[in-house]
Amino acid sequence: MSSLTINPAGPLIGTISVPGDKSITHRAIMLSALANGETTITGYCPGEDCLNTVRAFRAMGIRIDATPTNLRVYGKGQWGLTEPDGPIDCGNSGTGIRLLAGLLAGQDFFTVLTGDESIRRRPMGRVVKPVRAMGAAITGRKGGEFAPLAVTGSRLQGITYASPVASAQVKSALLLAALYAEGLTRITEPRLSRDHTERMFKFFGIPFRQEGSIIELEGRPSVGWNSQGELAIPGDLSSAAFFLVGASIVPDSDVTIVNLGINPTRTGVLDVLSEMGARVRILNTREQAGEPVADLRVCASRLHGVRIGGDRIPQTIDEFPILCIAAAMAEGETVITGAEELRVKESDRIATMAAELRKMGVSIAETSDGLIIQGTAGRALHGASCASYGDHRVAMSLAIAGLVADGPVHIENTDCMETSFPDFNAKRLELLTRSGRGL
Ligand code: S3P
Repeated sequence: MSSLTINPAGPLIGTISVPGDKSITHRAIMLSALANGETTITGYCPGEDCLNTVRAFRAMGIRIDATPTNLRVYGKGQWGLTEPDGPIDCGNSGTGIRLLAGLLAGQDFFTVLTGDESIRRRPMGRVVKPVRAMGAAITGRKGGEFAPLAVTGSRLQGITYASPVASAQVKSALLLAALYAEGLTRITEPRLSRDHTERMFKFFGIPFRQEGSIIELEGRPSVGWNSQGELAIPGDLSSAAFFLVGASIVPDSDVTIVNLGINPTRTGVLDVLSEMGARVRILNTREQAGEPVADLRVCASRLHGVRIGGDRIPQTIDEFPILCIAAAMAEGETVITGAEELRVKESDRIATMAAELRKMGVSIAETSDGLIIQGTAGRALHGASCASYGDHRVAMSLAIAGLVADGPVHIENTDCMETSFPDFNAKRLELLTRSGRGL
């Protein structure tokens, strides 16, 4: 198990790209495998989560050729998947396992879905329950609440489902199951979660209707399912967020990150940072495979505390660990509420960020659904020995905090960075090298 020691350093200077969007990569692999014809996916996320989805589809009979930048997926059409001869290991990926649970529910074969220790602790009932209501035969530990899940492909019927959580994983699992169901499926969610599945359906010509956070899809569509040849994936704003915050809090920094997805269901981090006083400029806005894309430039600035409540949680959900670092360096108090979903991510991110930031001298209080953070107004955090809890976003957030500490920050168990951002460290060093200082 590797560890990382970060020495205080800076400024961060230069122009970088980050890996392809993890959420979009999962969906691109899935839809390309179900399409008729070959698709070249460019700029995919090479993190372990997405590689596990590649392995899953290979195990179900789909040829996928991989280079460091491209995936070529030889789609076999709507009914082209075949039974894998062993369990499918989704590793650390909640998106992988939940979307597959929906997609596999309506196939004509049996599968077992499992994952690592963290995945086997995360709630699966939120997907299993509605997919069962469609007629799926899914079992699992504790009545289907936890993986491993055993999925016996069945005939599915469309349902009307009001999801109690704003979760793109739940919505997407149901949309994938709905593709195989007879009749209409109608899904509503309390707040609009990320809409990459809907955009990908549009890209592949699969019809559905949408109004606000209500989606209706007529099952077994006879149109769509055709390869579009090439599918270009933008950089992951959630990975960029580490350097957006890094550049904001490390004095004299000036960082540009090119080719980033700026889908409005994901850009809460930009709104929050701007409200905190960050200097973020959105440049060269364009569109790619149905997703909005831009370059972002961020320069260091003085931040101040903010209030982040329920309505802004879904579009900011993965960025709370790094926003906690921004809040710790800001002037004044930051209050996060309505974010109870953070407790069931790769780690309990409310508890883990509170514990680790306390070690760095930050005054931070946990609530049931959020955090209250007293900012240090730019004063250095304390060097400390920290744990990642095997959570990639916690590990990378602590690494950014290390840049503004008064001594080394040692982070145990940093292999997990491979999940989404294998070259995080190389990018960090690249930005520090260009500044000519700090190594
Ligand atoms: C994801 C959706 C979000 C997010 C996760 C990726 C996706 O989870 O936290 O990292 O790709 O659909 P929920 O949908 O459970 O909120």
